Amino acid sequence: MDIPRIFNITESAHRIHNPITADKLATLGAALRLERGARVLDLGSGSGEMLCTWARDHGVTGTGVDMSALFTGQAKRRAVELGVADRVTFIHGDAAGYVADQKVDVAACLGATWIGGGVAGTIALLAQSLRAGGIILVGEPFWRQLPPTDEVAKGCLAHATGDFLVLPDLLASFGRLGYDVVEMVLADQDGWDRYEAAKWLTMRRWLEENPGDEFATEVRAQLTAEPVRYATFTREYLGWGVFALMGR
Ligand SMILES: C[S@@+](CC[C@H](N)C(=O)[O-])C[C@H]1O[C@@H](n2cnc3c(N)ncnc32)[C@H](O)[C@@H]1O
Repeated sequence: MDIPRIFNITESAHRIHNPITADKLATLGAALRLERGARVLDLGSGSGEMLCTWARDHGVTGTGVDMSALFTGQAKRRAVELGVADRVTFIHGDAAGYVADQKVDVAACLGATWIGGGVAGTIALLAQSLRAGGIILVGEPFWRQLPPTDEVAKGCLAHATGDFLVLPDLLASFGRLGYDVVEMVLADQDGWDRYEAAKWLTMRRWLEENPGDEFATEVRAQLTAEPVRYATFTREYLGWGVFALMGR
């Protein structure tokens, strides 16, 4: 079981697999006023940067579940590196339907809401692990500017304009699901650059090391096309943020 190999290639050097930066992850951790010993669940935990740094900085404990064996291994190594391996656990597996044995204070899914079949389904899944009064974190794209056509939305690697909402509508949608938005930290274009542009050097180095690999043609095509596609579409039109929610 694993994610498509192309992501394990292009994001192999990422610590954070989203447009949020280390600074903003730290801002989010501080904004949530986390208490020592707070329990955090992270579905689609990637390379574990959120759990590991929050365990180091705020003394939280946590579990992350991720379908990438590569990212899960990186998360375990990061926990050792930051001296928090006794406080965080990383499980390699499918997080669809994953419910924690013990209720958590914070239940998160940052940039992987397909795990619950969309934002509403993921919130419902996270809620099953959450103690009363706990906080749900959802990391999700929104339109910074509404694309004028579906072609522009496709340029952002969406299927259509309807895939995402503009920020006020996304915030309103959480209310309709019965949640207060109690905090948010939004990515900016520099954060998008850290997520997207960091893939280009990784791809270039991978191509030099793996010229005969069956994925070399695909990776070459991506490296050739991605900078212009990204600057034309994603960087201009797509926003991204983490939204902290509490049930009303
Ligand atoms: C956009 S990345 C975000 C990772 C992490 N939350 C972060 O911010 O660095 C999406 C993550 O979801 C993971 N993923 C995809 N499908 C999954 C599934 N069904 N169950 C668990 N993890 C999954 C991927 O391996 C990847 O690490």
